[in-house]
Amino acid sequence: MNEREEYISDEFRERFGREPSVWTRAPGRVDLMGSHTDYNMGYVMTMSIDRDTWIAAAPRKDSQVSIYSTNIPGGATFSVHDEIAYDEELSWTNYMRGVAAVLRAEGYTLPGFDGLVHSTIPFGSGLSSSAAIEMATVQLFSHLGDLELDPVQMALIGQKAENNFVGVNTGILDQYSSVNGEDGCTLLLDCRHLSHEIVAMPPGIQVVICNTRAERNLTGTEYDERRAQCEEGVRLLQKYDPDVTALRDVSPVMFAQHRQALPEIIARRCQFIIEENQRVLDLAEVLPQGDPGTLKRLFTESYQGARDLYEIGAPAMAAMMKAMSSAPGVVAARQAGAGFGGSMVALVKNGFQEPFAAHVADAYERETGIPPEVYPVKAAPGAMVMR
Ligand code: GLA
Repeated sequence: MNEREEYISDEFRERFGREPSVWTRAPGRVDLMGSHTDYNMGYVMTMSIDRDTWIAAAPRKDSQVSIYSTNIPGGATFSVHDEIAYDEELSWTNYMRGVAAVLRAEGYTLPGFDGLVHSTIPFGSGLSSSAAIEMATVQLFSHLGDLELDPVQMALIGQKAENNFVGVNTGILDQYSSVNGEDGCTLLLDCRHLSHEIVAMPPGIQVVICNTRAERNLTGTEYDERRAQCEEGVRLLQKYDPDVTALRDVSPVMFAQHRQALPEIIARRCQFIIEENQRVLDLAEVLPQGDPGTLKRLFTESYQGARDLYEIGAPAMAAMMKAMSSAPGVVAARQAGAGFGGSMVALVKNGFQEPFAAHVADAYERETGIPPEVYPVKAAPGAMVMR
């Protein structure tokens, strides 16, 4: 048993007075390209990371789910036989409640369990800590209840839990990445077809997370507003081609022809998504060779577009971008996740991790007064039953 297992087993025994018999895990994710392209049916270059959520569990016969977390005090119990209620106090439990509620609504018979959650993904930092809880939970229900769900079904259940139960209108990126991740590789995710291709990481390059630790709240109106603006763009562009059902369908050439017909703000939002989609495809081509000049160009264009056209930047992100871009060993840097603060991502030459982190921490804190978190991540396998 490693240290983490030992710690979780001890805590489990303390709370439930017995041994856990099933363990599931699900990773967080970081996008290397493709901000807000998922709900536009586009592409994302995404990587599941070696920061993950584990659930240690033991089945119960009475249909009760009793859950605790080692990260946050307090626990909750609910019945999988009754209508499942939203928990106003312990918000993390809603990701588990939501998965149970969706599975129930889809007609699955669910088992009860005692469960203890342990996560190494910083909460609310834009690395999909919530999707990881959802995917570890769906793995657990699937295993204990013999539900025979495939990975795409699992991702969709997590997304429904997020959309319909938690009430956040997110796309498929987080859950899909968490469930389908590949050890040592990134995924070129196609959000329309819910499929992916595996893309190798270039040798000699390390992915480094730079968390601004600046306030962000996705349930705010900004995310929904961006979605609505993209939908408005689709509605207007459909007039010129009825086959356009998402921004994915709008080519750069078509967009250039009709940009004038769109209100300026809608045009800016659409331009970013259309260009960002293309950058994902371009990155998929060049990533395995890792030409530093091309990586830098694509990442920088993505950051500038997110800031100026999609307007999901924040002063803390600008300070972080400056710190990352001037750090030793940096190859490329950009935003990650939804933006509006949260984590950013850099590609750094092997061997430069420490001076890179030291420079970023120092330069960023000097400008913002906030000590950031800077740490390397590796591509880790997707969600699974560990045993
Ligand atoms: C959040 C959402 C995802 C995706 C990203 C932006 O992480 O949960 O569905 O839209 O923002 O790319």
